[in-house]
Amino acid sequence: MSVITEVKQRLDIVELVSEYVTLQKAGRNFKGLCPFHSEKHPSFFVFPEQQSWHCFGACGTGGDIFSFIMKKESIDFGQALRLLAQRGGITLSPLEAPDKAKDEKNERLFQINEAATEYYHHLLSSTKAGEAARSYLARRKVMPETLKEFRLGFSPDAWETLKNYLLGKGYTEKELVEAGLIIEKEEGGSYDRFRNRLMFPICDIQGRVTGFGARVLDDSLPKYINSPQTSIFDKSSSLYGIDKAKSAIRKKNLVIIMEGYMDVLTAHQHDWQNVVGSMGTSLTEKQVEGIKRLTNNITLALDADLAGEEATLRGKAILAYSNAEANVILLPPGKDPDEVIREDPALWRKLVEQAMPILDFAFQSVISKVDINKAKDKSLAVQKLLPSICEIKDPVQQSHYLKKLARELKIEESAIKAALRESKAGRKRPQLSKPTEQSRLARQFVSSPIEEYCLALLLQYPELRPLARELSPEHFESTENREVFVKWQHSSDISDLESKLDTSLLEHLYYLVNKKFPPAIQESERTRHFDLADCILRLQEKLSRKLETEKEAALEIEREKGGISSELSKLEEQGINSGQQLQEVFVKKGKNHGFNERRRHQPE
Ligand code: UTP
Ligand code: MN
Repeated sequence: MSVITEVKQRLDIVELVSEYVTLQKAGRNFKGLCPFHSEKHPSFFVFPEQQSWHCFGACGTGGDIFSFIMKKESIDFGQALRLLAQRGGITLSPLEAPDKAKDEKNERLFQINEAATEYYHHLLSSTKAGEAARSYLARRKVMPETLKEFRLGFSPDAWETLKNYLLGKGYTEKELVEAGLIIEKEEGGSYDRFRNRLMFPICDIQGRVTGFGARVLDDSLPKYINSPQTSIFDKSSSLYGIDKAKSAIRKKNLVIIMEGYMDVLTAHQHDWQNVVGSMGTSLTEKQVEGIKRLTNNITLALDADLAGEEATLRGKAILAYSNAEANVILLPPGKDPDEVIREDPALWRKLVEQAMPILDFAFQSVISKVDINKAKDKSLAVQKLLPSICEIKDPVQQSHYLKKLARELKIEESAIKAALRESKAGRKRPQLSKPTEQSRLARQFVSSPIEEYCLALLLQYPELRPLARELSPEHFESTENREVFVKWQHSSDISDLESKLDTSLLEHLYYLVNKKFPPAIQESERTRHFDLADCILRLQEKLSRKLETEKEAALEIEREKGGISSELSKLEEQGINSGQQLQEVFVKKGKNHGFNERRRHQPE
């Protein structure tokens, strides 16, 4: 459950609004003087069942607890979320609750890494000390442009050069330790971590240097050393080259993941810009999380000898954290992508094109290693493959692989299903016990499919933007969708939007950006256009129905009170105002939505 939903479940709009407005009970609803404009007669309504509010007076708008608090306190969405979460006693994850002191400290670490990158890069590109590293790179066919693009560097063969350079720039020894660039000695003092190595700056998706990989220039060991874990570097969630690959990954809607730094350099140099490096470890869930925002299609280039085991391991990570469509490229024995791409680019292209689904590959390698006539081997194969099958979210695909497993192992599908149920039951699931009243509310917060469909179209097909002129934030009832829409209106592209959105909404954004459309939509601009127009119309109808219901409720209150005050006609006018735009649309489309009729039928 998203933290936004949780906040909505914990807080009651009537309670919240009551702190700012004196509300009177009116039937099932509440009314009061609008806090957003000055008025003598109440035209501000709160609807507990919808957990929404609406001002039928001068404002003519409404919304939920978030929009209320944003408007009332003049704060942005992120601030509103933190305020309301605190009120509801919800602890936000560190991602959602920025810690200013920590941010500042991390900012310093980024600066330090930046200075070190520049320093190492300068040594490699333009000094005598860097000559050996330069010729090493030349031997490995790394071109000067690649060296520059990836800001490769050289750490000198000395103990305190970088340290003194950075101290001279005003950073403290403590900070350099925290950045992982120097190591403290037990007996006191400290020294440079990276010495006489080729330096690979590792960046986050925004291109900020988080840490380094460092290779020896000969055959000595360890071949590579990396930055230790710091508050800005976590090897298991980093992907080498992600900042340089991201736009190509988006454009091609595919990421190719290799193991090594050198592989990534060679790939980019040969125009495979959608390539990143997993830095030697098994692909982790955190790495997949990072990619998910860019594409759902992952292709792994795996070493021939380890590939089988890896595929089952990685498949699980991939399937667990996304509905990513993962494929596997099997490299020729003893070769890594660096060699294949340089030596035989055509073969490489073919391997990419022939990549096979990771689970098919896992099946192939597991089953080829067991004797399916032996009962023990059968259960071993089930043990190895079932966890991955378990993670498949799409029931159709899951059923496909269950059948396949039964067929290939010559066992009853029911036996495998039983094993599946058992392993599912064994897994820990977070307990979400909720009072029934709240689960009733929860149902209202389920995001609207039309809203999501519409937003996903707008996000994925920028050419549709002009059509969105017909939409206003009010057309989006879900808090998440509305906020994404509002920020999208003021963004130039997805990256821009990403930087404008509160972190709590990024997950939702990535979901929308990766939403899959049927082929007809993908292929035809015309179809997309019509589809979106239809969506917009449906959103407009939905809003107008909502306004009608709210208006009805408000009018009913007035009727119950007996006298028809001047407010009634005011309400009516406002109702029409809010719906005016819609009405024009309906008239245009030949549908009269009954605004006028209804008006005539109201008691005068
Ligand atoms: P490889 O041994 O395949 O290295 O390890 P490579 O990148 O192909 O380098 P060359 O071609 O021998 O120069 C793959 C990745 O595993 C990590 C590094 O990220 C490396 O790029 N690794 C490997 C380490 O972190 N430490 C090591 O000692 C070895
Ligand atoms: Mn290599």
